[in-house]
Amino acid sequence: MAVTSDRPGAEQTAGSALDLGWLRESSAAWGMRAEPSRVGLTLRDIARGPYGDVPDHPPRRTMAPRGADIPDDVPDMGYTVNEKAEVWSDNIMELYEEAVSRQWSATRDIPWGQLAPLDPDLEHAMCQLATVLSEVEMVAADFPAKWLWRINHDFVEAKMFLCTQAMDEARHTEVFRKRALANGGGLGKATTVVEQFLKTILDAESYDEGSALMHLLGEGVVLSLFRAGEMIAPSEVEKRIFRLCMQDEARHVSYGTMHLRYRLQRDPTLAEDFHAYLDRGEELMGVLLTTPEVVEPATILAAGSVDAAVAMGSAASDVLRMQTIEEYLQRCERAGLDRRGRMRLPAAVIAGTSGVKTVAPEASVTVEGAS
Ligand SMILES: [Fe+2]
Ligand SMILES: [Fe+2]
Repeated sequence: MAVTSDRPGAEQTAGSALDLGWLRESSAAWGMRAEPSRVGLTLRDIARGPYGDVPDHPPRRTMAPRGADIPDDVPDMGYTVNEKAEVWSDNIMELYEEAVSRQWSATRDIPWGQLAPLDPDLEHAMCQLATVLSEVEMVAADFPAKWLWRINHDFVEAKMFLCTQAMDEARHTEVFRKRALANGGGLGKATTVVEQFLKTILDAESYDEGSALMHLLGEGVVLSLFRAGEMIAPSEVEKRIFRLCMQDEARHVSYGTMHLRYRLQRDPTLAEDFHAYLDRGEELMGVLLTTPEVVEPATILAAGSVDAAVAMGSAASDVLRMQTIEEYLQRCERAGLDRRGRMRLPAAVIAGTSGVKTVAPEASVTVEGAS
Protein backbone atom coordinates (compact mmCIF):
# COMPACT_ATOMS: atom_id res chain seq x y z
CA MET A 1 0.00 0.00 0.00
CA ALA A 2 1.38 3.38 -0.91
CA VAL A 3 1.87 6.13 1.63
CA THR A 4 -0.07 9.20 0.54
CA SER A 5 1.53 12.60 0.41
CA ASP A 6 1.46 15.53 -1.94
CA ARG A 7 5.23 15.70 -1.73
CA PRO A 8 7.30 14.21 -4.50
CA GLY A 9 9.05 11.11 -3.29
CA ALA A 10 6.62 10.53 -0.46
CA GLU A 11 5.37 7.27 -1.82
CA GLN A 12 6.54 4.18 -0.05
CA THR A 13 5.35 0.63 -0.16
CA ALA A 14 3.79 -1.03 2.86
CA GLY A 15 6.06 -3.21 4.96
CA SER A 16 9.02 -0.84 4.73
CA ALA A 17 11.38 -0.62 7.72
CA LEU A 18 11.25 3.17 7.42
CA ASP A 19 8.91 5.23 9.58
CA LEU A 20 8.56 8.16 7.18
CA GLY A 21 6.43 10.16 9.56
CA TRP A 22 8.66 13.16 8.95
CA LEU A 23 7.91 12.82 5.25
CA ARG A 24 4.17 12.38 5.46
CA GLU A 25 3.26 14.72 8.27
CA SER A 26 5.30 17.82 7.60
CA SER A 27 3.39 21.04 7.17
CA ALA A 28 6.39 23.02 5.98
CA ALA A 29 5.95 25.39 3.06
CA TRP A 30 6.88 22.80 0.49
CA GLY A 31 7.56 24.17 -2.96
CA MET A 32 8.39 27.72 -1.85
CA ARG A 33 11.72 28.70 -3.33
CA ALA A 34 14.04 31.45 -2.13
CA GLU A 35 15.66 33.36 -4.97
CA PRO A 36 19.21 34.60 -4.41
CA SER A 37 19.66 38.35 -4.68
CA ARG A 38 22.59 40.06 -6.35
CA VAL A 39 25.10 39.23 -3.64
CA GLY A 40 23.93 35.68 -3.05
CA LEU A 41 21.33 33.99 -0.89
CA THR A 42 20.82 36.35 2.03
CA LEU A 43 18.88 36.03 5.28
CA ARG A 44 16.40 38.50 3.84
CA ASP A 45 15.97 36.28 0.76
CA ILE A 46 14.93 33.30 2.87
CA ALA A 47 12.72 35.30 5.23
CA ARG A 48 9.65 34.36 3.23
CA GLY A 49 6.27 32.97 4.08
CA PRO A 50 6.13 31.31 7.49
CA TYR A 51 9.93 31.34 7.72
CA GLY A 52 10.06 35.11 7.71
CA ASP A 53 7.36 35.49 10.34
CA VAL A 54 9.18 36.37 13.57
CA PRO A 55 6.61 36.21 16.37
CA ASP A 56 6.47 39.07 18.85
CA HIS A 57 5.87 36.53 21.61
CA PRO A 58 7.03 33.03 20.60
CA PRO A 59 4.75 30.29 21.91
CA ARG A 60 7.70 28.08 22.90
CA ARG A 61 11.16 28.31 24.35
CA THR A 62 12.91 25.81 22.16
CA MET A 63 15.94 25.61 19.91
CA ALA A 64 13.81 24.11 17.16
CA PRO A 65 14.24 26.13 13.98
CA ARG A 66 11.59 28.79 13.47
CA GLY A 67 9.13 27.50 10.87
CA ALA A 68 9.85 23.80 11.47
CA ASP A 69 7.23 21.31 12.64
CA ILE A 70 7.73 21.23 16.39
CA PRO A 71 6.29 18.54 18.66
CA ASP A 72 4.37 19.64 21.72
CA ASP A 73 6.67 17.91 24.18
CA VAL A 74 9.92 19.72 23.36
CA PRO A 75 11.77 20.76 26.51
CA ASP A 76 11.66 24.33 27.74
CA MET A 77 15.13 25.87 27.37
CA GLY A 78 14.48 28.46 30.03
CA TYR A 79 14.88 31.52 27.84
CA THR A 80 14.19 34.77 29.66
CA VAL A 81 14.21 37.13 26.68
CA ASN A 82 11.01 36.14 24.96
CA GLU A 83 9.74 39.37 23.50
CA LYS A 84 10.94 40.19 20.00
CA ALA A 85 11.26 43.91 20.71
CA GLU A 86 13.77 43.18 23.49
CA VAL A 87 16.47 42.26 20.95
CA TRP A 88 15.22 42.99 17.44
CA SER A 89 16.08 45.73 14.98
CA ASP A 90 14.72 46.27 11.48
CA ASN A 91 18.23 46.03 9.99
CA ILE A 92 19.36 42.95 11.91
CA MET A 93 19.56 40.66 8.85
CA GLU A 94 21.53 43.17 6.82
CA LEU A 95 23.91 43.81 9.72
CA TYR A 96 24.58 40.09 10.01
CA GLU A 97 25.27 39.77 6.28
CA GLU A 98 27.64 42.70 6.36
CA ALA A 99 29.42 41.36 9.40
CA VAL A 100 30.06 38.00 7.77
CA SER A 101 31.19 39.51 4.48
CA ARG A 102 33.56 42.06 6.05
CA GLN A 103 35.53 39.92 8.47
CA TRP A 104 39.23 40.73 8.47
CA SER A 105 42.38 39.39 10.00
CA ALA A 106 44.43 41.27 12.57
CA THR A 107 47.31 39.04 11.54
CA ARG A 108 47.23 39.47 7.78
CA ASP A 109 45.33 42.66 6.98
CA ILE A 110 47.40 45.11 9.01
CA PRO A 111 50.71 46.16 7.39
CA TRP A 112 52.71 45.36 10.53
CA GLY A 113 55.91 45.32 8.52
CA GLN A 114 55.56 49.08 7.97
CA LEU A 115 55.78 49.89 11.68
CA ALA A 116 58.73 52.19 12.24
CA PRO A 117 60.19 53.56 15.47
CA LEU A 118 58.22 56.53 16.77
CA ASP A 119 59.11 59.37 19.03
CA PRO A 120 59.08 57.67 22.45
CA ASP A 121 56.32 59.86 23.84
CA LEU A 122 54.12 59.18 20.83
CA GLU A 123 54.84 55.46 21.07
CA HIS A 124 53.94 55.59 24.74
CA ALA A 125 50.72 57.46 23.99
CA MET A 126 49.81 54.96 21.27
CA CYS A 127 50.51 52.06 23.62
CA GLN A 128 48.38 53.57 26.40
CA LEU A 129 45.53 54.14 23.96
CA ALA A 130 45.89 50.56 22.74
CA THR A 131 45.87 49.38 26.36
CA VAL A 132 42.59 51.15 27.11
CA LEU A 133 41.01 49.87 23.92
CA SER A 134 42.23 46.34 24.53
CA GLU A 135 40.71 46.63 28.00
CA VAL A 136 37.27 47.80 26.89
CA GLU A 137 36.74 45.87 23.67
CA MET A 138 36.14 42.46 25.17
CA VAL A 139 33.14 43.55 27.22
CA ALA A 140 31.27 43.88 23.95
CA ALA A 141 31.86 40.15 23.46
CA ASP A 142 31.22 39.18 27.07
CA PHE A 143 27.92 41.07 27.28
CA PRO A 144 26.31 39.43 24.21
CA ALA A 145 27.73 36.08 25.30
CA LYS A 146 26.15 36.46 28.73
CA TRP A 147 22.74 37.07 27.19
CA LEU A 148 22.84 34.87 24.10
CA TRP A 149 21.65 31.66 25.72
CA ARG A 150 18.77 33.51 27.37
CA ILE A 151 17.38 34.84 24.08
CA ASN A 152 14.53 32.93 22.49
CA HIS A 153 15.68 30.99 19.45
CA ASP A 154 12.87 32.38 17.32
CA PHE A 155 14.95 35.56 17.24
CA VAL A 156 17.78 33.60 15.68
CA GLU A 157 18.89 36.38 13.33
CA ALA A 158 19.51 38.65 16.33
CA LYS A 159 21.45 35.87 18.04
CA MET A 160 23.52 35.33 14.91
CA PHE A 161 24.34 39.01 14.73
CA LEU A 162 25.44 39.04 18.36
CA CYS A 163 27.73 36.10 17.56
CA THR A 164 29.39 38.21 14.85
CA GLN A 165 29.79 41.01 17.35
CA ALA A 166 31.59 38.69 19.75
CA MET A 167 33.99 37.72 16.96
CA ASP A 168 34.50 41.36 15.98
CA GLU A 169 35.37 42.30 19.54
CA ALA A 170 37.78 39.41 19.91
CA ARG A 171 39.58 40.77 16.86
CA HIS A 172 39.57 44.32 18.25
CA THR A 173 41.05 43.09 21.50
CA GLU A 174 43.62 41.20 19.46
CA VAL A 175 44.61 44.04 17.18
CA PHE A 176 45.11 46.59 19.96
CA ARG A 177 47.03 44.10 22.07
CA LYS A 178 49.22 43.41 19.07
CA ARG A 179 49.75 47.11 18.44
CA ALA A 180 50.84 47.67 22.04
CA LEU A 181 53.39 44.90 21.79
CA ALA A 182 54.54 45.35 18.20
CA ASN A 183 56.74 48.43 18.31
CA GLY A 184 58.76 48.20 21.48
CA GLY A 185 56.31 49.91 23.82
CA GLY A 186 54.12 47.37 25.52
CA LEU A 187 50.99 47.60 27.60
CA GLY A 188 50.32 50.66 29.73
CA LYS A 189 47.97 51.29 32.63
CA ALA A 190 44.57 49.79 33.29
CA THR A 191 42.24 51.95 35.38
CA THR A 192 39.64 51.31 38.04
CA VAL A 193 37.12 53.69 36.48
CA VAL A 194 37.24 51.81 33.18
CA GLU A 195 36.75 48.54 35.02
CA GLN A 196 33.80 50.03 36.91
CA PHE A 197 32.11 51.03 33.67
CA LEU A 198 32.67 47.57 32.19
CA LYS A 199 31.29 45.95 35.32
CA THR A 200 28.18 48.11 35.11
CA ILE A 201 27.53 46.75 31.62
CA LEU A 202 28.15 43.15 32.65
CA ASP A 203 26.00 43.49 35.77
CA ALA A 204 23.05 45.07 33.97
CA GLU A 205 19.84 43.50 35.21
CA SER A 206 18.20 43.44 31.80
CA TYR A 207 19.25 43.27 28.17
CA ASP A 208 17.56 46.66 27.75
CA GLU A 209 19.83 48.24 30.30
CA GLY A 210 23.04 46.56 29.16
CA SER A 211 22.38 47.22 25.49
CA ALA A 212 21.69 50.91 26.10
CA LEU A 213 24.85 51.25 28.15
CA MET A 214 26.99 49.30 25.74
CA HIS A 215 25.65 49.40 22.17
CA LEU A 216 24.47 52.98 22.34
CA LEU A 217 26.63 54.80 24.86
CA GLY A 218 29.88 52.87 25.30
CA GLU A 219 30.38 51.67 21.75
CA GLY A 220 29.19 55.02 20.44
CA VAL A 221 32.05 56.69 22.27
CA VAL A 222 34.48 54.07 20.97
CA LEU A 223 33.19 54.59 17.43
CA SER A 224 33.82 58.32 17.70
CA LEU A 225 37.31 57.55 18.97
CA PHE A 226 37.98 55.18 16.07
CA ARG A 227 36.80 57.82 13.64
CA ALA A 228 39.16 60.33 15.18
CA GLY A 229 41.83 57.63 15.29
CA GLU A 230 42.33 57.77 11.56
CA MET A 231 43.22 61.43 11.94
CA ILE A 232 45.51 61.10 14.94
CA ALA A 233 47.18 57.83 13.94
CA PRO A 234 50.95 58.20 13.94
CA SER A 235 51.41 55.90 10.91
CA GLU A 236 49.59 54.00 8.19
CA VAL A 237 49.55 50.96 10.45
CA GLU A 238 47.33 52.62 13.04
CA LYS A 239 45.23 54.28 10.35
CA ARG A 240 44.45 50.86 8.94
CA ILE A 241 43.67 49.48 12.39
CA PHE A 242 41.26 52.29 13.21
CA ARG A 243 39.62 52.15 9.79
CA LEU A 244 38.93 48.42 9.97
CA CYS A 245 37.75 48.57 13.58
CA MET A 246 35.53 51.52 12.74
CA GLN A 247 33.57 49.61 10.11
CA ASP A 248 32.87 46.85 12.65
CA GLU A 249 32.01 49.27 15.41
CA ALA A 250 29.61 51.15 13.15
CA ARG A 251 27.58 47.93 12.83
CA HIS A 252 27.41 47.45 16.57
CA VAL A 253 26.31 51.02 17.16
CA SER A 254 23.85 50.83 14.29
CA TYR A 255 22.32 47.79 15.95
CA GLY A 256 22.14 49.59 19.29
CA THR A 257 20.48 52.64 17.78
CA MET A 258 18.02 50.78 15.58
CA HIS A 259 17.24 48.28 18.30
CA LEU A 260 16.35 51.02 20.78
CA ARG A 261 14.25 52.67 18.11
CA TYR A 262 12.39 49.41 17.50
CA ARG A 263 11.94 48.89 21.24
CA LEU A 264 10.57 52.36 21.91
CA GLN A 265 8.29 52.38 18.89
CA ARG A 266 6.55 49.31 20.26
CA ASP A 267 6.47 50.46 23.83
CA PRO A 268 6.98 54.21 24.30
CA THR A 269 6.33 53.84 28.02
CA LEU A 270 9.83 52.36 28.34
CA ALA A 271 11.43 55.71 27.53
CA GLU A 272 11.76 56.67 31.17
CA ASP A 273 13.49 53.38 31.96
CA PHE A 274 16.05 54.00 29.22
CA HIS A 275 16.55 57.56 30.40
CA ALA A 276 17.36 56.18 33.85
CA TYR A 277 19.87 53.68 32.42
CA LEU A 278 21.59 56.42 30.49
CA ASP A 279 21.52 58.84 33.43
CA ARG A 280 23.75 56.44 35.29
CA GLY A 281 25.82 55.49 32.26
CA GLU A 282 26.53 59.10 31.38
CA GLU A 283 27.69 59.85 34.89
CA LEU A 284 30.23 57.05 34.60
CA MET A 285 31.14 58.10 31.08
CA GLY A 286 31.72 61.61 32.35
CA VAL A 287 34.34 60.26 34.72
CA LEU A 288 35.89 58.22 31.92
CA LEU A 289 36.12 61.22 29.65
CA THR A 290 38.14 63.06 32.27
CA THR A 291 40.45 60.18 33.17
CA PRO A 292 44.05 60.96 32.11
CA GLU A 293 44.85 57.39 31.03
CA VAL A 294 41.84 57.46 28.73
CA VAL A 295 41.95 60.99 27.36
CA GLU A 296 45.54 62.17 27.32
CA PRO A 297 47.05 59.63 24.94
CA ALA A 298 44.64 60.63 22.16
CA THR A 299 45.26 64.29 22.97
CA ILE A 300 49.01 63.86 22.65
CA LEU A 301 48.67 61.92 19.41
CA ALA A 302 46.38 64.63 18.05
CA ALA A 303 48.75 67.41 19.10
CA GLY A 304 51.81 65.57 17.81
CA SER A 305 53.86 65.73 21.00
CA VAL A 306 53.56 66.11 24.75
CA ASP A 307 54.81 69.70 24.57
CA ALA A 308 52.29 70.59 21.90
CA ALA A 309 49.51 68.96 23.91
CA VAL A 310 50.46 70.97 26.97
CA ALA A 311 50.65 74.16 24.92
CA MET A 312 47.21 73.53 23.48
CA GLY A 313 45.73 73.00 26.90
CA SER A 314 42.34 71.43 26.69
CA ALA A 315 41.72 72.48 23.11
CA ALA A 316 42.87 69.24 21.50
CA SER A 317 40.78 66.99 23.70
CA ASP A 318 37.81 69.35 23.69
CA VAL A 319 37.25 68.87 19.98
CA LEU A 320 37.16 65.09 20.30
CA ARG A 321 35.02 65.23 23.40
CA MET A 322 32.46 67.62 21.97
CA GLN A 323 32.26 65.63 18.75
CA THR A 324 31.81 62.41 20.71
CA ILE A 325 29.00 63.87 22.80
CA GLU A 326 27.24 65.40 19.82
CA GLU A 327 27.34 62.14 17.87
CA TYR A 328 25.95 60.32 20.89
CA LEU A 329 23.10 62.81 21.29
CA GLN A 330 22.24 62.47 17.60
CA ARG A 331 22.12 58.68 17.95
CA CYS A 332 19.75 59.02 20.90
CA GLU A 333 17.53 61.24 18.78
CA ARG A 334 17.50 58.72 15.94
CA ALA A 335 16.51 56.06 18.43
CA GLY A 336 13.63 58.23 19.61
CA LEU A 337 15.13 59.29 22.93
CA ASP A 338 15.81 62.99 23.39
CA ARG A 339 18.69 63.32 25.83
CA ARG A 340 19.62 66.93 25.13
CA GLY A 341 17.66 68.36 27.98
CA ARG A 342 18.60 65.63 30.38
CA MET A 343 22.18 64.65 29.70
CA ARG A 344 24.18 63.83 32.81
CA LEU A 345 27.61 64.23 31.35
CA PRO A 346 29.21 66.69 33.76
CA ALA A 347 29.28 70.32 32.76
CA ALA A 348 33.06 70.27 32.96
CA VAL A 349 33.13 67.62 30.27
CA ILE A 350 30.67 69.41 28.04
CA ALA A 351 32.48 72.68 28.49
CA GLY A 352 35.77 70.90 27.90
CA THR A 353 37.52 72.30 30.91
CA SER A 354 39.37 69.15 31.82
CA GLY A 355 41.88 68.58 29.08
CA VAL A 356 45.58 67.92 29.41
CA LYS A 357 47.02 70.18 32.07
CA THR A 358 49.94 68.15 33.23
CA VAL A 359 52.16 65.58 31.64
CA ALA A 360 51.28 62.10 32.78
CA PRO A 361 54.42 60.33 34.02
CA GLU A 362 54.05 57.47 31.57
CA ALA A 363 53.73 59.86 28.64
CA SER A 364 57.12 61.43 29.13
CA VAL A 365 59.16 58.33 29.81
CA THR A 366 61.33 57.14 27.01
CA VAL A 367 60.20 53.77 25.84
CA GLU A 368 62.99 51.30 25.52
CA GLY A 369 63.38 50.07 22.03
CA ALA A 370 61.03 52.64 20.56
CA SER A 371 63.66 55.05 19.47
FE1 LIG B 1 34.92 46.87 19.26
FE1 LIG C 1 31.79 46.96 19.24
